[in-house]
Amino acid sequence: MEQINGYMCRYKNYNFAAGITTAEYLDSLQSFDVRPSDIFLVTYPKSGTIWTQQIIISICELGGGLNDYPNNLEQMPWLEYTEGRPDYALRPSPRLFATHLTPPFMPLGLMDKKAKIVYVMRNPKDNLVSYYHFSSAFADLETPKSFEWFFEDYLAGNIPGSSWFDHIREWHLKKHQYNILFLKYEDMLLDLKSAVIKMCHFLGKNLSAAAIEQVVEKSTFKTMKKDFKANYEFLPPERMTGNFMRKGQIGDWKNIFTAAQSEKVDKLIQEKLGDLSLKFIWE
Ligand code: A3P
Repeated sequence: MEQINGYMCRYKNYNFAAGITTAEYLDSLQSFDVRPSDIFLVTYPKSGTIWTQQIIISICELGGGLNDYPNNLEQMPWLEYTEGRPDYALRPSPRLFATHLTPPFMPLGLMDKKAKIVYVMRNPKDNLVSYYHFSSAFADLETPKSFEWFFEDYLAGNIPGSSWFDHIREWHLKKHQYNILFLKYEDMLLDLKSAVIKMCHFLGKNLSAAAIEQVVEKSTFKTMKKDFKANYEFLPPERMTGNFMRKGQIGDWKNIFTAAQSEKVDKLIQEKLGDLSLKFIWE
């Protein structure tokens, strides 16, 4: 693990927040014993991870048979973190995991396509703005000197999670290796119920209409903001001064991007992802 600065280290060309994991542990994930009932949520940071965490947990709870944990982080822990990590081999099924990792780090057992992966993507302009604010609020991350400074680092992938563009590209190019459902933050925001139904089908959970409504209600921004298990306010204040539940909107980038910055992102999307024909909702 190469130490880049006090906040970031790099392993196999991917940036991690300093101190959250080790090279040995990351290597051990290759032979991680995947169970067919395992569900993995994969995102680039700030794409709606804790939101989708809440949706998947609610679906599984109402779909029958989840063990109770004090909060969503313990119910669906981050695969790559070693800090406070329980022994996953002892965990009862179904096991839920969240991760920001890219395909080369993922357990090889996922390639038999039995376990399921939900991948959530967010438009990079809002993603960048969300990440910018979060970097000031979360003690593990370096507080940006300015928005301009963060903007350039984000585009260069010089932050934990590395490049948004590479993350999207790698997962889309490797999608045939996995049993994977791709979702977009913006589609979820515009029609949460349809997104919940899509996830239920993919996860094989046959929920009643009333149960689907319940999942939707539990996963709105308003409800989650008040839900201690879901909103990460259980993190100690010395670690997190702001809020995971910040605005939860589409188009916040317009409040901070210059026209030139917006064009620069558009150009990069074309250059790096143009062949994937992805469609984004910007407002
Ligand atoms: P903003 O900073 O734009 O508000 P992650 O969980 O990957 O860190 O992503 C955090 C982003 O998801 C934040 O975006 C947060 O507000 C948003 N989010 C969390 N829960 C949400 C919900 N129920 N509805 C809409 N957005 C939500």
